[in-house]
Amino acid sequence: MLRFYRLTYHFFLRPLIFQLFSAQDAHTQAMTLLARCDISSVAQKLAIWLRHTVEIQQPVNVGGVQLDSPLILAAGFVKGLGFAFEQEATEAEGNIIPGWRTMPNLVGAVEFGSFTRYPRLGNPGTVIWRDVPTQSTQNRVGLKNPGACAAAKFLKRHLPPTPFGVNIAVSPGVEDAQQEEREILEAAGAFLQAEVFPGWMTLNLSCPNTEDDPSGHQSAEKAERLCGALVEALTPFKIPLWVKVSPGLSEMQYRELMRSFTKVGVRAVIATNTLAQPTPDDSGMVAGVGGGKLHQEALRATTCLVEEKQRLDCNVDVIGCGGLLDYQTYQAFRQAGAAAVQYWSALVYEGPLAFAVISRKDL
Ligand SMILES: Cc1cc2nc3c(=O)[nH]c(=O)nc-3n(C[C@H](O)[C@H](O)[C@H](O)COP(=O)(O)O)c2cc1C
Repeated sequence: MLRFYRLTYHFFLRPLIFQLFSAQDAHTQAMTLLARCDISSVAQKLAIWLRHTVEIQQPVNVGGVQLDSPLILAAGFVKGLGFAFEQEATEAEGNIIPGWRTMPNLVGAVEFGSFTRYPRLGNPGTVIWRDVPTQSTQNRVGLKNPGACAAAKFLKRHLPPTPFGVNIAVSPGVEDAQQEEREILEAAGAFLQAEVFPGWMTLNLSCPNTEDDPSGHQSAEKAERLCGALVEALTPFKIPLWVKVSPGLSEMQYRELMRSFTKVGVRAVIATNTLAQPTPDDSGMVAGVGGGKLHQEALRATTCLVEEKQRLDCNVDVIGCGGLLDYQTYQAFRQAGAAAVQYWSALVYEGPLAFAVISRKDL
């Protein structure tokens, strides 16, 4: 069945989607479809049936969480609508996080977010591109999301059906150390107060699409301060903290970060977010590249972090993310020592059952 699905997707659906829709329009259409599927019991039954039919069960304990499979849908797909004001977001009727039910039922573990303390509309204009020859994506969505309070309120009423994570980020532009810490703690606190207890929480230290300096967010000092505060807040609820880092850091930076994560009790590090590069439309503007073009860099980051983990003999798992598109790239991450993997661009190039395609050698 999976072979039939793959052939149909590669030779019929994908060319049709690419022909009819730009990357951005395809994404918008996918969100509209997901919002409809979320309220359809037939769609949910189909999603569950599909997952059970094609998923290879490979139970794994990663970053303090027990999962059925090491393949996790990365942050940025199920992240919710953008809003300008908190009141507008918290009072919004209807589905403000399209995919909240369908994606977990279809693909299993999902990382929701990123959510910031306050809602964000994200960047205007074209913000998502694809580069088909390299199977890459590029985006400068700019952390569009409903904000932590509205997301928590929504998820309290719409609990995802499988283990899920919540990814939180500092609002772009916030420079003040105390405000950063306050925002992060309030964003995490919004979920805890609403009694929404994710399997893990991820601090997104890396936001290349918001015109912030990505590595400025990732100094060992800053990582230690923010992660330390979050670990303290999450420990009473037994929620492990994961951290997401950028590609393109030096080996020394990755090693220093791993030492900081170990010191404060982070349980996993996701390597990596997207890589900032000029956009296809305007070389003066940057956006984060994911998919094929990111793979080698994400693999290098994974390798550095795993080596440091082994040297320190610590329990911070490394999760590979970047250009996970097929069985070969999956094996590359596993051989580099990744305990689990995350994917986003594979949804574009392998379709909704990408997770099953990736884990099969025989396709
Ligand atoms: C449109 C889009 C939006 C994204 N938004 C987020 C986000 O809000 N938070 C985050 O941590 N990562 C975000 N990401 C990055 C992905 O989670 C992932 O790290 C990256 O795409 C690399 O994986 P890939 O090569 O499989 O695409 C986004 C990626 C894309 C393509």
